[in-house]
Amino acid sequence: MRMNRDVIIACDFSGKTQVLDFLDLFKEGRKPFVKIGMELFYSEGPEIVREIKRRGHRIFLDLKLHDIPNTVRKAMAVLSGLDVDMVNVHAAGTIAMMEAAREGLTRPDGSRPLLIAVTQLTSTSEERMQSELLIGASMEDTISLYALNARKAGLDGVVCSPREAGLVKDMCGKDFLTVTPGIRFEGAAADDQVRITTPARAREIGSDFIVVGRPVTAAADPVAAYNKCIEEFI
Ligand code: C5P
Repeated sequence: MRMNRDVIIACDFSGKTQVLDFLDLFKEGRKPFVKIGMELFYSEGPEIVREIKRRGHRIFLDLKLHDIPNTVRKAMAVLSGLDVDMVNVHAAGTIAMMEAAREGLTRPDGSRPLLIAVTQLTSTSEERMQSELLIGASMEDTISLYALNARKAGLDGVVCSPREAGLVKDMCGKDFLTVTPGIRFEGAAADDQVRITTPARAREIGSDFIVVGRPVTAAADPVAAYNKCIEEFI
């Protein structure tokens, strides 16, 4: 189940034409691992996943499922049939929901995509988590517990900021995967990300996968930017 360190490009494009034109840039050389999110999946449907798979890319389908266990189990069985490589759920759905997700994803031959949990969204501040969600613990303790729950449910890892990756590894073991967004090159604009890390630093901290969006998708030369990520991180 363990996979090698890799760079995942967040393909935050609104439609098929834009994403396929972008991926056409990578016809030669290494085929990037790509992340497809809700916007593209909801606008283009499962066919966009099949098309990108046919082109030889690995896919992280970032749909963050969160529902009753039975519904999540069945939805995951459908996603598993799409032959994606990584999917995710909200750890807030409970251990039972995460177990159901893992069962649904598992194919008759025992193989399955990697299954990752979102602990707390980075858009949620500790203050709002406490006042609106009535979670009295600190953000750090909440993330640690949710990561442990994910491990108990047999998941492969969590999405977290690089800052939390060390904590998660300490709590859950070095083989528990950390998938970390918020990546920027040295000296580049942060955009709307708050806690940013370079690919090289993410490697030092122990991230297994970095998720990189605009530093590659909005670069003057996306292939060069992607190759720079690979050089620094792999
Ligand atoms: O363009 P940028 O590199 O900021 O994109 C980061 C990607 O990672 C986006 O698709 C964003 O939605 C996603 N992400 C994130 N922070 C999280 C979880 C996902 O930035 N905690």
